[in-house]
Amino acid sequence: MTNNYLENFSLKSYNTFGIDVKCRYFIEVESIEKLKSVLEEKISPSIFILGGGSNILFTHDYPGLVIKINIKGKQIEKEEGNHVFVKVHAGESWHEFVLWTIENGWGGLENLSLIPGSCGAAPMQNIGAYGVEIKDVFVRLEALHRESLEVHTFDHEACHFGYRESVFKRDLKDQYIILSIVYRLSSMPRFNTSYGAIEEELEKMGVKEKSLKSVSDAVIAIRQSKLPNPIEIGNSGSFFKNPVIQKSAFDALHQTYPSMPYYKVEEDYKIPAGWLIEQCGWKGKVVGNTGSHAKQALVLVNYGDATGEEVIALARAIQASVKAKFDIEIEMEVNIV
Ligand code: EPU
Repeated sequence: MTNNYLENFSLKSYNTFGIDVKCRYFIEVESIEKLKSVLEEKISPSIFILGGGSNILFTHDYPGLVIKINIKGKQIEKEEGNHVFVKVHAGESWHEFVLWTIENGWGGLENLSLIPGSCGAAPMQNIGAYGVEIKDVFVRLEALHRESLEVHTFDHEACHFGYRESVFKRDLKDQYIILSIVYRLSSMPRFNTSYGAIEEELEKMGVKEKSLKSVSDAVIAIRQSKLPNPIEIGNSGSFFKNPVIQKSAFDALHQTYPSMPYYKVEEDYKIPAGWLIEQCGWKGKVVGNTGSHAKQALVLVNYGDATGEEVIALARAIQASVKAKFDIEIEMEVNIV
């Protein structure tokens, strides 16, 4: 065997939910060459690709090989007028990458500060926050085909980005490993602070003139005030997607609940799942080792020794009560393994 695999390895510190499951084999790869060699070696027929582990809920021991992508590197690809094309490799930490772009004065990612996870995972579900999604500045990515071991390039269109969606979660699921991504950032940034809470936070901070750093600091402060830090309390951010409902259903609900928050999405309406869950009485509720977070009902947490099964049972109970009260189905956003 060319590569050294760890056996019966605990993934507890490799998933932000902090679920203690084991995988049969585990290996970290720092280069494309090593990744190819591991794939060629085929030590197990089932392979799971791990990035930052921040959007995963493990529900059982994994019987196959887990490959942790640790391929690092970030550089300017080219500059064109006021635009900088930046290439980042999959194993870089997302937040550290965002901070690096801010230090260099390149705008576009500041609203996405402090999102846990790795750069390779970001396009998988088109990460987004505070009115910005990565698709807004995405140019292309390179990904390794798991069978042919060829590197393929995907432009914006080929990625089929949607709300927390991409082709890599759907039609091409489990077929590719994202290696690097190119973003088009701006050296003359325009700030996107229309998301109410950011303006409020900037005011609280006494900011007169906005900068990439101050917008990032505001986003960090908002996230820290609402979202549990996975280092302290295990979680995977939003557990569910915000449901999108049609006008007729919206009108009826809005009449019953005039204070219900919503965002208009073309002809439809997106309703914050956190609000729906709170209305059903789950916010802050502790159920065994798990629960819905007290400051943001959309986030399910692990208070210590939760199992994935326990979290799933809670998630199902929440889905059922939202369905019963509002006749709305909320879909899980986290990947269940
Ligand atoms: N709300 C409640 N109760 C709650 C939580 C929220 O009433 O327990 C209400 C809030 O008062 C507000 C509205 O719901 O009126 C929206 O809340 P928030 O701004 O916190 O955003 P969200 O829609 O709940 C989404 C993303 C987050 C992202 C924030 C900010 C999804 C599934 N989640 O949450 O993303 O940080 O917007 O842009 O779209 C993630 O994906 O892991 C994540 C944290």
